[in-house]
Amino acid sequence: MSQTITLALSKGRIFDETMPLLRAAGIEVLEDPEKSRKLILPTNQNDVRVVLVRATDVPTYVEHGGADLGVTGKDTLIEHGGLGLYQPLDLNIARCRVSVAVRADFDYASAVRQGSRLRVATKYTTIARDFFAAKGVHVDLIKLYGSMELAPLTGLADAIVDLVSTGNTLKANHLVEVERIMDISSRLVVNQAALKLKQARLRPLIDAFAGAIQP
Ligand code: PRP
Ligand code: MG
Repeated sequence: MSQTITLALSKGRIFDETMPLLRAAGIEVLEDPEKSRKLILPTNQNDVRVVLVRATDVPTYVEHGGADLGVTGKDTLIEHGGLGLYQPLDLNIARCRVSVAVRADFDYASAVRQGSRLRVATKYTTIARDFFAAKGVHVDLIKLYGSMELAPLTGLADAIVDLVSTGNTLKANHLVEVERIMDISSRLVVNQAALKLKQARLRPLIDAFAGAIQP
């Protein structure tokens, strides 16, 4: 008897950097998501398939059993809440950080010192709310879904809370990083019921991933 294992991944860095881990478990994805419009990708293992979902949807798919396991950033997990998800491994991939950035001509330090109310645009409202609350800074959060860097340039916000990887996007838009909130990497998340019901197939998979994590 074989049970199908469904792995949820998002296209881009997480997909690319998960491939070596899958390979370590003997799994090869048979189609390139950048070339195909397919959302369900077969692998060389008959009982393993990959589903392509939006990064923010990975925890939701795994939580509700649309996928047995998935790979998702710590940022996305915090925003989702992580409830009902077993999180056995930090895969140490897709590393970046969440930071506060402002226009180069905005005096962030004095704004904070003077206790001014800051308008902060972000996709990461939970992370931003917790961070500024801990600092005792009052903020009006403006929820955005992408291209946060535009907000300070158009006067929509004083600051942004966003992911920074190379720093190239900030630089290209004349923004500067003024605070580093947290380091981010991607984790393996597993549906708790699947972990019990499909243990025989999932455990070796998790162990193979664990053995292939790069320091
Ligand atoms: C991400 C992030 C930053 C950028 C950081 O955006 O939100 O904008 O990458 O990378 P860098 O420091 O290497 O320049 P992404 O391109 O994923 O698009 P989005 O914000 O519109 O979702
Ligand atoms: Mg961006």
